[in-house]
Amino acid sequence: MEPMRLISTLLLFLLITTGTSSIPTNRRKRVREPCKRLVFYFHDIIYNGHNSKNATSAIVGAPSWGNKTILATQNHFGDVVVFDDPITLDNNLHSPPIGRAQGFYIYDKKEIFTAWLGFSFVFNSTHHKGSINFAGADPLMNKTRDISVIGGTGDFFMTRGVATLSTDAFEGEVYFRLRVDINLYECW
Ligand SMILES: *[C@@H]1O[C@H](CO)[C@@H](O)[C@H](O)[C@H]1NC(C)=O
Ligand SMILES: *[C@@H]1O[C@H](CO)[C@@H](O)[C@H](O)[C@H]1NC(C)=O
Ligand SMILES: *[C@@H]1O[C@H](CO)[C@@H](O)[C@H](O)[C@H]1NC(C)=O
Ligand SMILES: *[C@@H]1O[C@H](CO)[C@@H](O)[C@H](O)[C@H]1NC(C)=O
Repeated sequence: MEPMRLISTLLLFLLITTGTSSIPTNRRKRVREPCKRLVFYFHDIIYNGHNSKNATSAIVGAPSWGNKTILATQNHFGDVVVFDDPITLDNNLHSPPIGRAQGFYIYDKKEIFTAWLGFSFVFNSTHHKGSINFAGADPLMNKTRDISVIGGTGDFFMTRGVATLSTDAFEGEVYFRLRVDINLYECW
């Protein structure tokens, strides 16, 4: 083949191969299976004015019409709660904790009962070492809510995925337990 023809054939070949391999819609349509599935429970004991020893969460910010002892009216809008909750493998508060769920939730809508969650699972046990970081909207009245797994460290280095939350128990304004079904789509 003469040089010019060879070059143009090569260019055409390059165009075709790079063109097809970088179509983004291909990637979006692909159905992916999680590389790891995990189930945990965590337990939130809310301060109620009398249980400061046992409470694992505290109201740290409240709107002017509320206070830090009792969650505010209007679906607790404006309350900011910090927590350090035990994580267990089953739904028993008294099972040996395998880590702590640490972070905060913000009640962020007057009209409905909903929150925004930002927290980490911090593990330091024979089961797991490292952390998983979560963030997302938590419309509490839904039976299940999906939030993002935005990263991790240690055993969960650079992970990403989705966590499905469900309220496994709810006792007044003093205790609730969340079941967390984690599907990781990026594992290292
Ligand atoms: C704290 O928890 C213990 C064990 O569950 C319980 O016996 C005690 O009554 C609790 N204390 C308060 C102040 O709620
Ligand atoms: C907090 O607000 C609740 C409900 O309005 C009220 O009953 C309680 O006395 C308040 N507590 C404090 C410490 O202000
Ligand atoms: C994790 O546990 C080990 C062994 O109990 C301890 O030495 C270490 O300080 C702990 N690390 C953290 C970050 O808590
Ligand atoms: C909450 O539930 C409603 C009705 O069942 C549904 O339309 C909505 O997508 C759910 N939202 C989330 C974030 O799961």
